[in-house]
Amino acid sequence: MADFSLKIADRIKDFGELLRAARFAELCGGPSLIRQLVRAAEPTILQEIWNRASSSHAHQKSLLRLLFFGLQTPKRVAERIIRPDILSCLVELGLLQEDNHCFQAVDHCVFPVDGLYLIGPRLFNYKAPPTCRLYFGYDSLLLAQAVRQERNVHSAFEIGAGTGLVSLNCPALRTVASDIDPRAIQVASVNIILNQAQARCSVIEGDLLAGFPAEGVDLIFSNPPYVPAPVDSPLPAYSWGGEDGLTFVKRMLDEVSTIIERGAKCILILSAYGDERGNPLERLLAQFSNRFQIRLQYLNRTLIEQADYEALAHGATMVEGGGAVTPTKFEEYYKKHRFLYKNDCILHIRAAARSGLNVSYHSDTFHDSLTC
Ligand SMILES: C[S@@+](CC[C@H](N)C(=O)[O-])C[C@H]1O[C@@H](n2cnc3c(N)ncnc32)[C@H](O)[C@@H]1O
Repeated sequence: MADFSLKIADRIKDFGELLRAARFAELCGGPSLIRQLVRAAEPTILQEIWNRASSSHAHQKSLLRLLFFGLQTPKRVAERIIRPDILSCLVELGLLQEDNHCFQAVDHCVFPVDGLYLIGPRLFNYKAPPTCRLYFGYDSLLLAQAVRQERNVHSAFEIGAGTGLVSLNCPALRTVASDIDPRAIQVASVNIILNQAQARCSVIEGDLLAGFPAEGVDLIFSNPPYVPAPVDSPLPAYSWGGEDGLTFVKRMLDEVSTIIERGAKCILILSAYGDERGNPLERLLAQFSNRFQIRLQYLNRTLIEQADYEALAHGATMVEGGGAVTPTKFEEYYKKHRFLYKNDCILHIRAAARSGLNVSYHSDTFHDSLTC
């Protein structure tokens, strides 16, 4: 857990109270609009959020402009809506920037999700694509939903906490989560305090099972990095899964196998890249199918297109120390390895008397979530 002074922790707590008092969640259009926005950051959704806020009080609209839309706000206006000591704490944590007597949330945004307030990367930008190296996607919401549906689990370990969204979004569970990225740990720690969940959730900086509780857990879950990219054009840590997209998943399965054998269940949400005939994920899972009962549910399949190569090139260019990467490099790489489709899927793994790999498509459980 990032070590905050008592003063900073108090200010984060006060910030949470301010958001609740201002009914920030309703101001952002409520849960359904936010879920739609996480799924596809479309301008029409942003317009609707702004239109809905039009009848709000002036200070609520300023709050929305600054914290949700991330727009530049004069210092004197910001200080009327947020206490100066809270503003300077948000600047210190890198969530707001102060420049020329103005505040601005350049890369971040406050999201109200399912009754929680989360600081995360802004999913939409007006001028340039987002550069925040944290992840926030619809798959995180689906993973939280799948974890909440598990029966008889009380304690869990999350690998790759990111913003802390998934662990926070499972209120019946006591969770410990690791993340290799110190910035993710810092933001997740802020989010835990913002939602007053310190008694239930904690995060630890480290690799994979760092901080795994000695007494064990009932469940392990993760939304791992899974996107394939060549070694000379890596992607940010939140997405890069090595050359075939499975480097992280392979390591994780090897390390959690003994924990699953001891009785813990495991849920992963990820995408498998492949062609019409299959994908390397299925071949990897086949190697574990004599030890575990594995349920692989495909949720959605999309053809990889030019816009995806552009997004991949943008991601690779963001990695420190790397140069500019062209979309053509990714297009050639993906075609050579026959990564033609992206298959979104969810995996349930457990030790059971009857082992084997069961593959299904478009589960009813997730149909609603995918089509809403
Ligand atoms: C796709 S993101 C998960 C995002 C998270 N579900 C959320 O909603 O914020 C994957 C996360 O795994 C973390 N990660 C990457 N390599 C890791 C490792 N070796 N050990 C632990 N975490 C790692 C990344 O830093 C990133 O935060």
